[in-house]
Amino acid sequence: MSAAIEIQRLADADLLANQAAVRFVDAARDAVAARGRFLLALAGGSTPRRLYERLASRPWIEQVDWSRVEFCWGDERNVSPQSADANYRMAHEALLSRLPLEPRQIHRMPAERADLATAAEEYAQQLAALCHAAPNSMPVFDLVLLGMGADGHTASLFPGTAALEVTDRSVVANAVPQLGTHRLTLTFPAINAARLVMFLVAGAEKAQRLTEVLPPPGIQGRWPASMVRPTTGHLVWLVDQQAASRLPASQTCGAGAGPQSAAPSGPPAAT
Ligand code: 6PG
Repeated sequence: MSAAIEIQRLADADLLANQAAVRFVDAARDAVAARGRFLLALAGGSTPRRLYERLASRPWIEQVDWSRVEFCWGDERNVSPQSADANYRMAHEALLSRLPLEPRQIHRMPAERADLATAAEEYAQQLAALCHAAPNSMPVFDLVLLGMGADGHTASLFPGTAALEVTDRSVVANAVPQLGTHRLTLTFPAINAARLVMFLVAGAEKAQRLTEVLPPPGIQGRWPASMVRPTTGHLVWLVDQQAASRLPASQTCGAGAGPQSAAPSGPPAAT
């Protein structure tokens, strides 16, 4: 059975990024304490970028043992990693290049390759190996970060695309006819196996779709982002006031959330 959804409303995108950084630091600390490392899937998009920039600056940067983090990606576009459109490049510029990392900690999705099906298969094997699991089993991420597009997509799981139906693989090459392209993406079973999944959603253009993705309790939304329901892990939606403007106030409740959650959560004290 899926765990409950926690929806936290923040006054603006900056406060959303601060709250995401608080939760990121906590998740990393807990994972390193429990298992000696933090297995992370990064998202693309402008909202996650703000989080990465926070994490790369003080005091946040000092709150994480970066040597214990394994950086993976939730999706990647069919472009060179140096392209301005690459999720890898965005994460590299905003975060990775500012951290003291070893190359072996960075597990880039090779979506620039011509044979994307093989690239997906190999990436799935890489994830399984990181988890010391059988080649076809689902990885268990400590944290999967996700954004949501105004069309209800998340990662590169777009409405109406074949990847939505995949149940037996953790990574696939997904044809996205609405964008005239192919992408590599984690599948729902891989995302839903995570210990923590955190959506970061900001902007008025997402307000209407968010009411359909997060319908009142008891109703299942029909958009890709609605299909993220961790099996045993925790699901958190951090939404800014603009994106949450059409959600009923009663819905933005949950452990640690509620109307009072619009108040800023400050960064941890510098050590
Ligand atoms: C990508 C993403 C995608 C993104 C959403 C939200 O490759 O584009 O992984 O799923 O997170 O489109 O992006 P914004 O935060 O920029 O709206």
